[in-house]
Amino acid sequence: MDAPKENQPVEIRIDDISMYFGSGDRKVVALQNVSFDVRQGEFVSLLGPSGCGKSTLLRLMADLLEPASGQITIGSQHPREARLRRKFGIVFQNATLFEWRTVKDNIELPLEIMGFKKSEYSEITTHLLELVGLSKFQNHYPWQLSGGMQQRVAIARALSLDPPLLLMDEPFSALDEFTKERLQLDLLDIKKQTNKTVVFVTHSIPEAVYLSDRIVILSAHPGRIHSIIKVEREEGSFAHTRRTDKFHAMTDLVRSCFHEESDSLDEQIV
Ligand SMILES: Nc1ncnc2c1ncn2[C@@H]1O[C@H](COP(=O)(O)OP(=O)(O)OP(=O)(O)O)[C@@H](O)[C@H]1O
Ligand SMILES: [Mg+2]
Repeated sequence: MDAPKENQPVEIRIDDISMYFGSGDRKVVALQNVSFDVRQGEFVSLLGPSGCGKSTLLRLMADLLEPASGQITIGSQHPREARLRRKFGIVFQNATLFEWRTVKDNIELPLEIMGFKKSEYSEITTHLLELVGLSKFQNHYPWQLSGGMQQRVAIARALSLDPPLLLMDEPFSALDEFTKERLQLDLLDIKKQTNKTVVFVTHSIPEAVYLSDRIVILSAHPGRIHSIIKVEREEGSFAHTRRTDKFHAMTDLVRSCFHEESDSLDEQIV
């Protein structure tokens, strides 16, 4: 059995982060005094309404933005150093693939950029293609793939340098329900096989409950942590899990956080 996640070393430390955009009348407080840790091997979702600062927080972790104040460390390094040392892979809402490169060539791009020789990475690519179920499509071009398949390529590309951490910003929100459910299950499977730490942005309560070990609930204007909820998950497909009492209890609990109905959220809030 896996060791409890709370006993694992801290992978990401978010320490009193604030972030603003614009100035004067147009100043937006995107994030205010946000602090939490993510442990190695944990799946943590950032959940909240549009504009609550989910993407901003993920971008700060990925060194795509600098915070106004506070500190982020990834494996005890500044995000810049973590980025240069390829400590994380990123997947966005749109797959952002290179249209003129095949599936295989898209997945291999980070390895090519890092200066590895083709002979050194053919085994890695074969494994990644299998992991995301695209072995038969390795010579296809992005325009020959469905949206879900394109996202699979983006996930494989993000894993190509074997980073310990995966940062994902609404990777499935543009997909239809069937494809989304398939990819959610596959992501859990990939996570199990690779033992990555995952930070996953979503505005879907069921998605967050289905995938996460913990959910960081953000409220908007200013973007702040409302609460952090520990999820009791049951393994299985979404179709199965969503019918369980545990799943209903968890989604109700998370929903009650948004509607402030809860008197006491018991030990689930950490
Ligand atoms: N580059 C920017 N310039 C100005 N304001 C920005 C910028 N990026 C984000 N914001 C503002 O910061 C706030 C948080 O934005 P962010 O994109 O992080 O929200 P989000 O939770 O990801 O929303 P969504 O669910 O719609 O993707 C919003 O009010 C947004 O308008
Ligand atoms: Mg966003």
